[in-house]
Amino acid sequence: MGKTARAIVDLSLKELVKDLQKAYCDEWLAYYLYWYMAQIVSGRAYEDIKEMLEKLAKDELEHATEIADLIIKLGDSPIANPMELEKNANAPFLMPPKNTADINRIIRIVTEAESGAIEVYSKIAKKTLGKDHVTYQLVTHILSEEVDHEEMFENLMER
Ligand SMILES: [Fe+2]
Ligand SMILES: [Fe+2]
Repeated sequence: MGKTARAIVDLSLKELVKDLQKAYCDEWLAYYLYWYMAQIVSGRAYEDIKEMLEKLAKDELEHATEIADLIIKLGDSPIANPMELEKNANAPFLMPPKNTADINRIIRIVTEAESGAIEVYSKIAKKTLGKDHVTYQLVTHILSEEVDHEEMFENLMER
């Protein structure tokens, strides 16, 4: 971003970048969690869950990429050390179930992670509304995908 682009950001750049770094960490943890669960899931009808987890993992990696790009645009660099990812995330890493056939547990883990992501992005959207159009546009785009993710897995929950 150039001088004018940064000047029209009507809020603390430092605080904004910090929020984005945390969201960036969340995305990597979500990507890893979904990718991992897609590898280990077993049991009845595991193929469908595997496919959905792979789709979500791909989306989360895309979100990490988009946020990294924005952090760079804002004049900073995304966190380099993977050891720092969990420390700087909004929520701790959710452990995949030991029982790889426990699909209900996997579904609960995904809905919990997605509900956290929705909260994070709606907070950033509120903060940037009318103040930083570029960030607002990106986080609302990501938010709408997290809403789809939550719904996709919520619909699988046993009632
Ligand atoms: Fe995401
Ligand atoms: Fe998601």
